[in-house]
Amino acid sequence: MTLNPDELRKDFPILEKGGLVYLDNAATTQKPRQVIDAVAEFYREFNANVHRGLHRLSQKASSLYEDAHETVARFIGASDWREVIFTKNTTEALNMIAQAIAEKFLRPGDEVVTTIMEHNSSILPWVRISRLRRLKLKIVSLANSEELNYEELSSAITSRTKVVALTHVSNVLGCVNDIKRVVKEASQAGALVVVDAAQSVPHMPVSVKELGVDALAFSGHKMLGPMGIGVLYLREDLANELPSPLPGGGMVSEVSLYDGKISYVEAEPPWKFEAGTPNVAGAVGLAAAIDYLLKIGMENVEEHSRYLADLTVKRLREALDNRIVVYGPMKRSRRLGIVAFNVDGINPHLVASYLDSRGIAVRSGYHCAQHLHSVLGAPEGSVRASFYVYNTRRDVDKLVNALADLVNEVDSVGNPS
Ligand code: ALA
Repeated sequence: MTLNPDELRKDFPILEKGGLVYLDNAATTQKPRQVIDAVAEFYREFNANVHRGLHRLSQKASSLYEDAHETVARFIGASDWREVIFTKNTTEALNMIAQAIAEKFLRPGDEVVTTIMEHNSSILPWVRISRLRRLKLKIVSLANSEELNYEELSSAITSRTKVVALTHVSNVLGCVNDIKRVVKEASQAGALVVVDAAQSVPHMPVSVKELGVDALAFSGHKMLGPMGIGVLYLREDLANELPSPLPGGGMVSEVSLYDGKISYVEAEPPWKFEAGTPNVAGAVGLAAAIDYLLKIGMENVEEHSRYLADLTVKRLREALDNRIVVYGPMKRSRRLGIVAFNVDGINPHLVASYLDSRGIAVRSGYHCAQHLHSVLGAPEGSVRASFYVYNTRRDVDKLVNALADLVNEVDSVGNPS
């Protein structure tokens, strides 16, 4: 089966209205009826708190919530559903894992290796922890301004390296990092590998076991699921060993008061990392999104994301030639679903506003990676088009035609920036 975006579009109420060319999928995707209905059904039929009540409704909600862990575990090739921790989003997941690792394993002088292409959520938790714990944070640069410098990464990893934290797919460059290679080098040094998979899990088959990562995070809302539900995958032995950085209700097996002091014993994973009332409807909605994606087939999703990104790069370069700078690798095999660019020195927000006036939604600015834009020589940021399963060739045509018109207008009236 190949993916038919025109058929899929019928499942998305927001696209059915027409007039919207939605190319901001790296920020969040639209939701199909199947996901919207699953969330509504939960609140209509099954709403109760989980793991807190003996009544039937609570048991039903608990079993739906546990099933959602199972669905996610199968989707990412985890060994066991207990390796799947629900969080609010990727940001929360990456902060939690950084704090837990720091508390358990990191001492002053230890080194953490990361990269300049990280989104804020993947780098700022380590910036903060490095400051608090007096760690050395090494930031690996780009090769040819378009992808990870693997040679520099190899030499950055030393016997003092305790963690390598990096993104799987850059949310600006669209490049796909070779995580298996990084895991091999990190494990030789005895370092843990923490992966931001926010832009990879939605777009390609990902198996945490095959990659060999220790921890990996992603968000439901970038893969047709609801906002407010994210995932932290944590290898089972690590999940057992690491402390929870977020203590509270539902994450303990025992709380004791002795001699005026309170102590607690953490519950088993994943519950010890899921303190407080969780987003059960979000988890149910994410499971529905995964079912939807699995029906399409993740190989087909990947092929479509690569096809549209590659087509966009080619068409933009043909139509706008030296009036456009496209960031990231030019080869189709190295780019997944994201095309960031700048047009003719025009401020990226002005380009995005112009596109919006033509019904085309893109993101503009730094995309939470100002540091990366500094090294790309794009101090005002960039414009980013990002694709998903319901985007078509026509969407690419509309984007390219609108940008060509903008350049023509600039030629007749002058650069608006
Ligand atoms: N990380 C999201 C983006 O790249 C918010 O737009």
